[in-house]
Amino acid sequence: MAQFISFEGTEGVGKSTLIANVAAYLTQQGIDFIQTREPGGSAFAEQLRALLLDPATHMAEDSELLLMFAARADHLAQVILPALAQGQWVLCDRFTDSTMAYQGFGRKLGDRAYLAKITLLIEQFVPKLPDMTVWLDLPVVEGMARAKNRGKLDRFEQEHIAFFARVHQGFAHQAQREPERVKRIDASGTADEVLQKVLIEIGFRS
Ligand code: TMP
Repeated sequence: MAQFISFEGTEGVGKSTLIANVAAYLTQQGIDFIQTREPGGSAFAEQLRALLLDPATHMAEDSELLLMFAARADHLAQVILPALAQGQWVLCDRFTDSTMAYQGFGRKLGDRAYLAKITLLIEQFVPKLPDMTVWLDLPVVEGMARAKNRGKLDRFEQEHIAFFARVHQGFAHQAQREPERVKRIDASGTADEVLQKVLIEIGFRS
């Protein structure tokens, strides 16, 4: 059964609600877990997150990519790997598939050489991929309408719809490339419907 689970999707697909519901279910089952997020999840990575999400920050695309991995390296070392070593489950809000989708497709249009660079960074700096990744799939326009109601937009949320259409394509690419790990979940249902589908994928329900 899955232990390290990441949750992915474009803006406003209901990730936070789903993660809270999965966390509540694990608690009910008496399963020991941690809940964390990327970019961030450790003290240093949260500092990088603040920089990465600040709309006032301007940086080169390669800098953005490398900062994602700088944050991830610390998060893995300080938080994820120790938790897994202790037998805890890890629920992670975003992980490497977001890098493929946002940096690889959003910024670089799915440029094959750039995707190969990201793959290399994953191979070199990510000793453990999630056992399972939940990709919450919702039409980009619907998600963006939900995200806009949240108030102040961060550096990524301020992007144009065409950017998110490419990000969405990036997640679809990942799901197609690694169908064993990346599970596409239709996010258009109610929160409980989405939760039930995810519990089936994890192996709690048949
Ligand atoms: P969140 O607002 O869903 O917590 O995610 C933070 C933002 O960071 C989100 O817009 C996606 C972006 N991001 C990347 O661009 N690349 C990455 O590798 C990760 C983990 C997140």
